[in-house]
Amino acid sequence: MARLTPANEERARQLIALYPHHRSALIPILHILQGQDGYLSEDGMKHVGELLGLSAAEVRGTATFYDMFHVEPVGKYVVAVCTNIACMLQGAYELLEAAQDQLGIAPGGTTADGMFTLEDAECLALCGNAPCATVNWRFFGDLDPQRFAQLTEDLRAGRLDAEVPPHGTLSRVDRNVGLGAPGQSVHGAGGPPPPVDVAAAAGGPHDAGIELATSLTMTAVIAHEGGRGLDHTGTRTDAPGGTDSQDQR
Ligand code: FES
Repeated sequence: MARLTPANEERARQLIALYPHHRSALIPILHILQGQDGYLSEDGMKHVGELLGLSAAEVRGTATFYDMFHVEPVGKYVVAVCTNIACMLQGAYELLEAAQDQLGIAPGGTTADGMFTLEDAECLALCGNAPCATVNWRFFGDLDPQRFAQLTEDLRAGRLDAEVPPHGTLSRVDRNVGLGAPGQSVHGAGGPPPPVDVAAAAGGPHDAGIELATSLTMTAVIAHEGGRGLDHTGTRTDAPGGTDSQDQR
């Protein structure tokens, strides 16, 4: 896959129409591209630049600034093992060494079958369940070599498919407020984008701002938490580190 698919290009155009300055849509569109291919290909970034009127260097410069974007192909599962202080004190380096032995790769490497990319990460904000790791930004805490082996075995067998999407999918909850219906062009036949009726989309003029803010907040929370174990207020409803929580989709 290279350029955005027609459906993703349309979604990108809808996002662009939301911002006074087109370039403000760059990061959300890069997430769409990464969700499509698992990483940001050169052709894909070129296409994004065309949509936004940005140079390839400007798109690439933004993409390479952020850890969550990959500009080279990665495995289906990106496993990031935290080796920061809290995890280090709880055996993170022993865990990382075991991960390297079990997967047969060093940090930065990808297994030959394309299943796993291993990363040595800084604090993942799950210090209370150290040592921990994320798999495609979904948290797994209280790990040890045996639990790590079980985790990768479960991933290989597809037993965690409901919880861990393929790499590149930031959140399974798409932002819809302010966007048109799927397939609805916001540019028409090359004309200006129509006004975005946020109030109507949110159910009424008084609720519009609240609804929009709630939607965006939830997207951010779900993205950060990997969509696992949160109720509608963002409060945890499960113990992190398990593999039995419900995905908020
Ligand atoms: S030190 Fe590992 S999650 Fe914070």
